[in-house]
Amino acid sequence: MDAADLDAARLPDTYPIPRTCPLDPPPEYRLLRAERPMARVRLDFDDSEVWLVTRYADARAILGDPRFSSDFSTPGFPARLTSSPPGPGTFIRMDPPDHTRLRRLLLPELNRRHVEALRPAIQRIADTLVGDMAARTPPVDLVQALALPLPSMVITELLGVPYEDRDYFHETTKVIGDQGVDPARRIQVRNDLKAYLDKLVAVKEAEPADDVLSRLGARREEAGVSRDEVVGIATLLMVAGYETIANQIGAGTAALLENPDRLAELRADPARLPAAVEEIIRHQTVIDYGLRRAATEDVEVGGQVIRAGEGVVVVVASANRDEAVFACPDALDFDRARHDHFSFGYGIHQCMGQILARVQLEIAWSTLFGRIPGLRLAVPVDQVPFRSDMFVYGVHELPVTW
Ligand code: HEM
Repeated sequence: MDAADLDAARLPDTYPIPRTCPLDPPPEYRLLRAERPMARVRLDFDDSEVWLVTRYADARAILGDPRFSSDFSTPGFPARLTSSPPGPGTFIRMDPPDHTRLRRLLLPELNRRHVEALRPAIQRIADTLVGDMAARTPPVDLVQALALPLPSMVITELLGVPYEDRDYFHETTKVIGDQGVDPARRIQVRNDLKAYLDKLVAVKEAEPADDVLSRLGARREEAGVSRDEVVGIATLLMVAGYETIANQIGAGTAALLENPDRLAELRADPARLPAAVEEIIRHQTVIDYGLRRAATEDVEVGGQVIRAGEGVVVVVASANRDEAVFACPDALDFDRARHDHFSFGYGIHQCMGQILARVQLEIAWSTLFGRIPGLRLAVPVDQVPFRSDMFVYGVHELPVTW
């Protein structure tokens, strides 16, 4: 058996593939990109077979092609991970025209102007959280101190949750984000949250204020959107904009602390922060489980015909490390010429919260490293409890000291 055969024998035929290093995707992705970029694999959760897509060019072709559906009910959609179908308003799991109608209603709310208007509030939240953290005796868990509360508080600000309800809201989001909590309890809490948001939307319709929910409420009839759908959009914002940011802060901080030269570059020249944030978002692709789609027609991608009714899993974490696009893809390099990674997806479902995400991450890291310059991991990185049990990769805990 020569080296190529050996390599071929190592090609995985099930998904997901376990990592061997906490800050890098599984090494098998490199082999798949080279040897079998469109691979037939069995999914762990239902034994069905899908096409596993690992190259950048193929990922782009599929995510940008309307013949691939995001709808759970499309035949072949790899959907059994969720026990119940997504409710009204959950447009991340819809195709046009419903996707277009709902996305369009939300679009102006997350644009640059609105996000910049939120910046002072986000900075205030980060100052308080990091200030409280700095006042404690280390070690401190960065996840509880900053990574989880920051996005939770930003979402309450965005949606216009009244101050008196914010503690309830933060406790609720904490339970939803805590993998240690019994799944039945998490479902219960999620339903409670939905009921809460339902009431909140009704209040905002009766007494509009200067916030996203009030504006969605005011514009929804003209856009042909029901109140239930607005509640669904609010829930989607919560789910999409909470664990992603929390884990990006967790995994990104770990990556920065493990790359002291890069951190020193950033400290020496804070103007490099936006480039650093972008590179950390690529390097630590927290959307760990590939993006799922189903073909609605026969489509040829990367020399392979995908038949109508077949499912695909587009591994953006692999596309983001594709050596055909990113030189030395495993290095954390703030000077990269290309920033068109797929951490926020690509095509019509590309992340609507990406401007807000970048601003939160910039503020989180500039405040953290500005206020606590001697920050370091309190345990070796291989003792950090990383989480790979969900769609979103990250850390359960990040013990830090200074
Ligand atoms: C680092 C943080 C984040 C990451 C890595 C991320 C990643 C993604 C990805 C990959 C998608 C595309 C999913 C697909 O194609 O199936 C997506 C969609 C979406 N994201 Fe984010 N996201 C982040 C933060 C946020 C925030 C802060 C918000 C809003 C508060 C948000 C709201 C959304 C929404 C509404 C969609 C659905 C868009 C659509 O289907 O048209 N995300 N996100």
